[in-house]
Amino acid sequence: MNGLMIKALGFAVILVIATIAVVMSLDIKIVEEGTDGILNSILSGQAINLITMGGAIAIAVLTASVSVKYINQMKTDTASGELADDKWDGIGEYKNELPSGWAYSFLAVFMWSMWYGFYGFPINAYSQIGEYNEEVLAYNKKFEEKHKGADHKTLRDMGESIFLVQCTQCHGATGDGLSGRAEDLTIRSKEKILAVINEGQNALNAFPGGMPAGMASGADAEAIATYVASGFKGEAPAMYAVCAGCHGANGEGTAMVGPRINGFDISNTLAKGKKGLIGKMPAFNTLITPIQEKALTVYIQSLSN
Ligand code: HEC
Ligand code: HEC
Repeated sequence: MNGLMIKALGFAVILVIATIAVVMSLDIKIVEEGTDGILNSILSGQAINLITMGGAIAIAVLTASVSVKYINQMKTDTASGELADDKWDGIGEYKNELPSGWAYSFLAVFMWSMWYGFYGFPINAYSQIGEYNEEVLAYNKKFEEKHKGADHKTLRDMGESIFLVQCTQCHGATGDGLSGRAEDLTIRSKEKILAVINEGQNALNAFPGGMPAGMASGADAEAIATYVASGFKGEAPAMYAVCAGCHGANGEGTAMVGPRINGFDISNTLAKGKKGLIGKMPAFNTLITPIQEKALTVYIQSLSN
């Protein structure tokens, strides 16, 4: 026994004592009560804490003895073997084979990691985000089920509540877009529609390329803008036919071609967001359920009526 060995063994003993102290202070039962005999409880897998303790002690003792062995060996070992021809600043290199134990463990760990990564722990196994998503889905399903027959008043109230929580920071509590900085949802303004006709628009991100400028001009554009802003009341100006091709005869919109312009296009806006003067409205696509979207639509259309 030399000084180093004593230190290593001392370390192992401290490790074991510390482990026992922690286990005692945590009030963990090493052997479950009511088991008949330690051997039986180990064999039947009940004494899991006992097995763990045994493992911990074994690790401590093994670590200490292996370190002692190698530290002692290092003191007396001299290197031997065939040297490579090259030398770097007088330092040579032995021509040793890869230690086979190292190579096999490397291969084994590599194969195990492949198994673990692709099969043992599938990518869709438990995750907190996954659990949260599943809970949200389940909740939304219940929500949709409960409100599927909601009447107009319920939808309007629901829409107002959602609006107050999710939309007021930009659109204002009254929906006027904080004096029009975000979209003013209380009026369908003729000026804005005229501007879209004259300048075109590519802000909804839902349609590749957006709407080209100059589809109508002059008095025609004026008449169309007045008609669209009024919510399609009265007789359609003849030139509205140009717009109908993309936006539908009553401005109800055509999927993948032109958004709804009979009122605000809530559906596309929620799905993709919309660029505006103060920046981009974020998409709400997964945050709003179909019923909630319907409720917001009822509420927002009610603001301009
Ligand atoms: C971060 C700010 C922000 C939030 C939050 C926000 N919006 Fe918007 N919204 C905007 C901006 C900016 C525009 C585009 C204004 C423009 O065209 O100049 C816009 C446009 C709109 C439009 C107009 C679409 C059209 O047909 O032109 C609707 C409808 C709308 N928002 C609804 C909502 C609803 C409903 C919510 C809540 C679920 C919401 N917004 C939350 C900023 C926001
Ligand atoms: C070639 C198809 C096409 C034609 C024709 C067309 N539009 Fe559009 N319009 C679009 C598309 C696509 C958008 C969405 C642009 C975007 O992404 O912002 C749009 C957007 C709009 C908007 C803005 C909607 C919003 O919520 O921001 C208005 C208003 C509008 N169009 C009115 C008209 C009028 C009026 C006419 C007839 C003069 C017309 N459009 C003709 C394709 C068309």
